[in-house]
Amino acid sequence: MLGYAFMGKAHSNAFKKIAYITWPPPLVPRLVGIAGRNAQAVEEAAARYGYDYATGDWRDLVADERIGLFDNGGPNSLHAEPTIAAAQAGKHVICEKPLGRTADEAYETYKRVDATGVKAMVAFNYRFVPAVRLARQIIESGELGEIFHFRGKYLQEWIIDADFPMVWRLDKDVAGSGALGDLGAHVIDLARYLVGEIETVSGLTATFQPGREVDDAIEAAVAFAGGAVGTIEATRFATGRKNALRWEVNGSRGSIAFDLERLNELQVHLADSSPGESAQGFRTVLVTEADHPFWEHWWPPGHIIGWEHTFVHELHHLLTAIRDDGDVAPHGATLEDGYRAAEVCDAIVRSAGSGTRESVRYRT
Ligand SMILES: NC(=O)c1ccc[n+]([C@@H]2O[C@H](COP(=O)([O-])OP(=O)(O)OC[C@H]3O[C@@H](n4cnc5c(N)ncnc54)[C@H](O)[C@@H]3O)[C@@H](O)[C@H]2O)c1
Repeated sequence: MLGYAFMGKAHSNAFKKIAYITWPPPLVPRLVGIAGRNAQAVEEAAARYGYDYATGDWRDLVADERIGLFDNGGPNSLHAEPTIAAAQAGKHVICEKPLGRTADEAYETYKRVDATGVKAMVAFNYRFVPAVRLARQIIESGELGEIFHFRGKYLQEWIIDADFPMVWRLDKDVAGSGALGDLGAHVIDLARYLVGEIETVSGLTATFQPGREVDDAIEAAVAFAGGAVGTIEATRFATGRKNALRWEVNGSRGSIAFDLERLNELQVHLADSSPGESAQGFRTVLVTEADHPFWEHWWPPGHIIGWEHTFVHELHHLLTAIRDDGDVAPHGATLEDGYRAAEVCDAIVRSAGSGTRESVRYRT
């Protein structure tokens, strides 16, 4: 594990739960080593999370032959080099999003890891929310008919204060971008996962606090290869919104809508459903039935799960692919998915600069 803070904790928690919650587990994780910068803090993290050892240098993990899976929960500037090095040392890898600070960096990581043949995944964990997986099943079944719209936004409020400390997320060298790569990348990934490839974007970016290096908010109108159009918004300036990842998909026969702050629910409108014209509208589906996605691992209906459990599903998926020598795609985000999301991010920045609609150019 690289990183012991927010994601280091979320991923370690999931590794510890897999063999308890899912049975039989695909593989039983053993927490071997954890790396971070602050010696005392990383020692504490190793003791708290149950790693055999702590180190101040991620290269120790790459050199450790007992380690078969390298989990990169470091800041964005530490995604490429350690992930590539771990894969070249024969370790399977999972890397937090965004895969790169730019599309160039993401492409380089994708190609160099791909060449090693290890299993590799980008940690777009929201694909592993049961309601999101159900939404994909509904869209794939054709029940919504022709898809016209994807409307996605990711709203937080935590850096409005002009005196907010200079954390790495505000440092352009480390983060690459602001709300765009931090939050927008999640919306872009879900847009691609649910509706398909994005072909063009008209974007704008805003930095509200003078002197800040990265964008505080982005807005984009997008066109999908399949004909749908949509909007993508990401901001850390939406007062009152804590972690509001929200999207809606509208098709010719129905619509579905989701809000991460109510992650066990999916709003569903099916135009042709009973009781008919006099009682149309959205209804709330509690996605906790035995036959709902991932629910074989959990509780009786209505005994809801939380945000941290998306990581249990995500890492269970990766361990299953490793055990079976199976594919991470289509439900896990591949490094190509991470790269393609980065191309959309770059196109939003280009469009914001040029003031014109930009094509997204995907390299093969
Ligand atoms: N999938 C999600 O929902 C989600 C949520 C939050 C963050 N993330 C992503 O996860 C990554 C980490 O974010 P976070 O919120 O956990 O950050 P964080 O600041 O909480 O933790 C970063 C960790 O990296 C370590 N670190 C920083 N610089 C280092 C260096 N030079 N060498 C070694 N270790 C170093 C820090 O000590 C810390 O342990 C980011 O890329 C972020 O975009 C994803």
